[in-house]
Amino acid sequence: MAWLWKKSKPEANALSPLDRDNIPQHVAVIMDGNGRWAKQRGLPRVAGHHAGMKAVKRITIAADELGVKTLTMYAFSTENWTRPREEVDYLMRLPSEFLAIELQELIEKNVQVRMTGWREGLPAHTLAALDQAEADTRHNTGLILNFALNYGSRREILEAVKTVAREAEAGTLDLDKLDEETFTKKLLTADLPDPDLLIRTSGEIRLSNFMLWQSAYTEFWFSNRYWPDFGKEDFEEAVREYQRRTRRYGGLK
Ligand code: FPP
Repeated sequence: MAWLWKKSKPEANALSPLDRDNIPQHVAVIMDGNGRWAKQRGLPRVAGHHAGMKAVKRITIAADELGVKTLTMYAFSTENWTRPREEVDYLMRLPSEFLAIELQELIEKNVQVRMTGWREGLPAHTLAALDQAEADTRHNTGLILNFALNYGSRREILEAVKTVAREAEAGTLDLDKLDEETFTKKLLTADLPDPDLLIRTSGEIRLSNFMLWQSAYTEFWFSNRYWPDFGKEDFEEAVREYQRRTRRYGGLK
């Protein structure tokens, strides 16, 4: 029965070089485990979020170096408002703190900063920092660093359905001609490609209302590491695993 063990592809290991011609164009990350990281160290949860912010920088650099085109970071979901006020307030201050430190370098590295999510409900200072960063990086042509903030996929899909219903009622859209491509353009992510690779840290294996429509054919990769510990090597390991996958989109290879 030796044939059973025969591999169709050479086994990639931590040392194998990455294929520069097969880099995922859009990587989306569910940054999970900040609270547990802090608890493990006897620190308040917000200390985990602060350490998580540093990991955002590390992974932005790693993604940029590999030639990833879009990096979406799930920084705050529509469900995260149910967390204690103090934690929510802290999370809302992180974009301005991060950008105050990093924006200059992001500009120099040709990174475009963007946000995907609902503006209403977000504090003015959070929006001001993100708006400023978007404006200052609008003409950059490198990596898109996209923060999913106040984002939830079910609401996104529902709002898109309402939009098409209104357009149909107004006679500006023919429902019979509505296709996936047109519907995709009604989502908050209209101008972004679907993620090729989705990474979730901390050992949780679920999507948590993240890019439900967009991840129909995304490759998933889960890490047991807590987000603040996630590093360049982990990111490269995820990309290496992505490169071992055969994407078939429901067809045959
Ligand atoms: C989930 O981990 C993480 C979040 C809800 C927040 C993620 C935000 C960051 C990593 C910082 C974002 C940085 C910028 C610049 C916007 P959790 O706290 O639920 O972890 P737990 O499951 O261990 O409690």
